[in-house]
Amino acid sequence: MKIIKVENLKKEFIIYEKEPGLKGVIKSFYNAKKIVKKAVDDVSFTIQQGEIVGYIGPNGAGKSTTIKMLTGILTPTSGEVRVDGIIPYQKRTVNAKKIGVVFGQRTQLWWDLPLIESFTVLKEIYQISDADYKERLAYFSALFGLDEFIKQPVRQLSLGQRMKADIVASLLHNPKLLFLDEPTIGLDVIAKENIRKTLKEIHEKYQTTIILTTHDLADIEELCDRIMMIDQGKIIYDGSLETIKAKFGSKKIVCFTLKNDSEIDLGVFETLKKKDPDLTVSLENKALTVIFNKLKINVGDIIGPVLKQTEVLDIDISDDHLENIIKAIYKNGL
Ligand SMILES: Nc1ncnc2c1ncn2[C@@H]1O[C@H](COP(=O)(O)OP(=O)(O)OP(=O)(O)O)[C@@H](O)[C@H]1O
Ligand SMILES: [Mg+2]
Repeated sequence: MKIIKVENLKKEFIIYEKEPGLKGVIKSFYNAKKIVKKAVDDVSFTIQQGEIVGYIGPNGAGKSTTIKMLTGILTPTSGEVRVDGIIPYQKRTVNAKKIGVVFGQRTQLWWDLPLIESFTVLKEIYQISDADYKERLAYFSALFGLDEFIKQPVRQLSLGQRMKADIVASLLHNPKLLFLDEPTIGLDVIAKENIRKTLKEIHEKYQTTIILTTHDLADIEELCDRIMMIDQGKIIYDGSLETIKAKFGSKKIVCFTLKNDSEIDLGVFETLKKKDPDLTVSLENKALTVIFNKLKINVGDIIGPVLKQTEVLDIDISDDHLENIIKAIYKNGL
């Protein structure tokens, strides 16, 4: 069942640009240059109930703006957005009851209240029954170790604790849909892992539909079957992670640790570059790294000539990291 439908969605921001300096400030009162910024530029997609979708793209691509339109915080300039049959910006309250939202960059909680009281307020707002509230709080306490900091005011919490608190707050009313805008930003590896594990568990338990923006591709690899990639307000890819990997993951990385870095003649790679013009070689502190297309060159053709020339202490062979693949797509397009 379709739970989200977005069609030709656009959001434009009007920005007034001033000239630099004091003169610019004064001038800008009557003569500011008006610029139209197309933050989301004709985006269409549908999301089925129960999907976990990773929404990725470089800084300023339009991810948060899309999330804000889906959650009813922003009104679109044009186009259609429906979330569980509702137009979010027209029915904010009804929408709010069905969704959970986390903006990793800033908390949705009351800064000066002890965390537990923020939760109590949310219980009232969402009219959660005593039994449900008790059960859910116990469940999250076990998952996140809330007891350790639940009595502290939110402003005193560490970043990781605050993020966990925000995620719990977004899930207390057991929403059908969960929007997470950078839920692991700035966290250490253990906290990230803990959050991913929890999201997986919630998804399995309630089939919650989850839309997640992130710059951490490990989030995507662990959680999402589908990714949507946005760049300059336009969706440039919508499909499985596997397809991206199969299509672009044809690079291999061979890293040699040389006994002595002075004795290798990098000229040996010139003939191979004729077969694969994108082949790159770098030599740094006795580490010789060769990146090449495995469909064009065999690993043996790389290793053989190097072993002939110099003494090698170690060889590490790996497939290209997803991070490099995504970087290349952001840079060069699909
Ligand atoms: N309120 C606003 N007024 C003017 N411009 C805005 C506003 N909000 C966002 N923008 C602009 O719209 C574009 C998209 O911003 P958005 O926050 O959606 O990007 P993002 O994909 O979430 O990026 P990031 O990964 O950095 O969070 C940016 O160029 C941004 O400067
Ligand atoms: Mg953002």
